[in-house]
Parts: sequence; C-alpha cells; structure tokens
Amino acid sequence: MLTTRENELLTRVEGDAPMGRMMRATYWIPAATSRTLIADGTPQRVRLFGDDFVAFRATDGRVGFFDERCPHRGVSLALARNENCALQCIFHGWRFHVSGETIETPTQAIAAEQFAKTIKVNHYPVREAGGLVWVWLGGGAPAPFPDFPFTHLAEHQISMGATKVPVNYLQGLEATLDSSHIAYLHRDWIGDLGAAFKTTGDVHAPEFRFVSQPYGFSAGALRQRPDGRTDVRCAEFVLPFHTSTPTSRPGMGSFQFLVPIDDVTTWWLIIFWNAHGPIDPAVLEIQGPEHADLDNFVPPLGGPETHWGQDRAAMKAGSFSGFRAGLLSEDTVVQVSMGPIADRTKEQLCSGDAAIVRLRRTLLDAAARHQAGKPVNPHAMSYRTLQAHAGVVDTVGSWTDLAGAEIAPG
Ligand code: FES
Ligand SMILES: [Fe+2]
Repeated sequence: MLTTRENELLTRVEGDAPMGRMMRATYWIPAATSRTLIADGTPQRVRLFGDDFVAFRATDGRVGFFDERCPHRGVSLALARNENCALQCIFHGWRFHVSGETIETPTQAIAAEQFAKTIKVNHYPVREAGGLVWVWLGGGAPAPFPDFPFTHLAEHQISMGATKVPVNYLQGLEATLDSSHIAYLHRDWIGDLGAAFKTTGDVHAPEFRFVSQPYGFSAGALRQRPDGRTDVRCAEFVLPFHTSTPTSRPGMGSFQFLVPIDDVTTWWLIIFWNAHGPIDPAVLEIQGPEHADLDNFVPPLGGPETHWGQDRAAMKAGSFSGFRAGLLSEDTVVQVSMGPIADRTKEQLCSGDAAIVRLRRTLLDAAARHQAGKPVNPHAMSYRTLQAHAGVVDTVGSWTDLAGAEIAPG
C-alpha cells in the first residue's frame, strides 16, 4: 500500500512531475516504429509525457522530430506538406528543414531570408535502431544511446508489436513483472505457451527473489517442482520502463517497453528477436488471434458497460477470463478496469506482489535521486547480451545463475 503522494510521484509523468522529468533527462525515449514513417509520407503525431510532437521521414530518409505546433501561429505540422527534405505548413507556407532550420517564411515582406533565420523550431535529436525511432527529449548533450540486444539486428530478426492503451504506464509495467497472474488471467493460453510454462500454471504462489543491477534489477520467480528441484523464471527490469521476460522458445529474446504518452495513456511495445537468424513471423500469434495490425495489436475492446467485451458464454464453456481475442487483450482489459491511474492507497498486497513492490521502490528511488541532483544510471553499459532466462536449478540459492547474464561495461 502506498500513500497518495507516493502514488502521484510514481505515476505522474507530464510537465514538471519528477518521474517524467527523471525519465526525459536520463534516457532516450522510443517514439515511433520505423516502418510507420515513409519518406515524403504523412507526418505522424507523437505524444510523449503529455507533450505533442510531429515525426516525419524526409525525402532523403532522415527522420525529423519537431514540436507539433507551427512556430508561426500554431497550426499542426502533422497537416504539413512533406517534400524536399522539409515540412511546409499549409496555413502560410512556411518551410522547416528536417534538420530543424526555418528555410522559408513567404508571408514576410521585408528581408524574408534574414527573418527566416530568426524563427526557432523546437526540434529534437533522433536515432533509428532496432526498428524504432528514439528521441532525446532531455535537452543538452544526449545520454549514451542504449545498446539493447536487438538494436543492432536486421529487420528480419525482429518482430515488433505496438499498441496504445488508455491507462497509466505503471499499470502496464507492473504487469510485465507480475509472474503470478499468468496462472489465472492467461490460463487459456498456458498450453500454447509450451512446456516452459508448465510449472507456472501448476504453482500459483511463486517465491520472489531479487538482485540489484546497475540498470535496475533481476527478479527471480521461483516455483518448487514435484521432483524437488526449483523452476526459475527470471525477468530483467531496465530503467525506466523496460522489462525482459523469458520466452518459450530457445534463442528468442523479448522485451516490453511501456512508454508514457501522458498520465493516462501508454504506448506498449512488445519486441521479440532472434540474434542468430530470422525470427519466426508467427511469434506474436502464439498469444491469440489478435495482432492483425502490428501497430495496433489490441483490437477495440468496448467499455465497462459491455464488460469490455467479455464473453460469459465462453467462460461457461471453459475459458477462464472470457477474452478469446488473445492474451494481450486480457492484460489490457484488467489494466483498464483498474481506472486510468490505479489507486494504490487502497491495495492489500500479498507475497505474490513482491516484484511490484520492488519495481515501485526502484522507480521512486530513481526519481528522488534525480530530484536531489544525484545521478541516475543512464544506459551507460552495453545490454547486447542481456536476456531474461528461465531454467531449473537443484538448489534455490543458485537461481542467481540465471540473473542478469553477461553485462559488459559499455
Ligand atoms: S501557422 Fe504555420 S505558416 Fe502560419
Ligand atoms: Fe499478462
């Protein structure tokens, strides 16, 4: 259970809220999937931390990232013409080069060229890696760019799903570390997830253990097997909103990113990769028949008046949750049903929530450090080999063999 103040600190990310400020000042932020930005194509509205931006791919392939409002009189630059390596506002024709310079102000009569040089466009450094456009919103010199295990891989080695969820980022992030919900909420899919999830389905109260890491922490969910050995599923939490969980397929890694769009909306990314070859394109489908649109993988669910589309007849017929569209719809529904920002002052937690408690402490500590002017660890190391592991160990204490593997200094 948290105080109201702690819950506000944890969840608020807009404006001067300390959590959002810590995230923006320390980390590169995933902003769009590369595949949705086409050269000279439609500029994309991007909202992050409650601020509105526009991202576009210029004629030469470069990505520009500006404040959404035209510096002249505030028209959305998502409406702009995108050509000749520049956005041209449709209201008065002012042109802004992809590099962030104002190159034409045709409605200025006198010394237009000189005048254009004085017009400032708020633009931000971007990098493209791993199928994502990342933006630096922290001002000043950007932090080291994160070297995730998939950011150097080719397109055919990565499978990426993305969707917007109308809920605060922390609800989604908590779910990524909440190993104990799998046996209930995702019961319908455990069989499809394969043998690696058998003990997860059988043992409903895992014991959690943790190792602090420079990037966040490793969280081991430990379950006793009938043969006396211990089944370990170890997740890796990487500040500020990234979790790697073990996959059911050998050689395949996965990360989930819960990017704050604003206080009550989250951009949820699920990334699978295969470092050794092409990725199986069906990888997202093992989680249900949703995912027709990989940039919007959770289909519309309806609201509380329809129980978010829950199928009670299916429940009578054997479905546990009543959401047959897929595992990711189940996650979305439970999070949305908690309200846009869950009231954590009213919770009554149990041992199965230990990873959630650890996550909140880690985030609160990072925000407090930043507020106090102390450094928060940026992505100052290579994560190239960081991957969540699952396995079976003979003694409980040796679970850490599966934690935080092989992090090389960057
Ligand atoms: S508002 Fe954009 S050019 Fe006038
Ligand atoms: Fe889930």
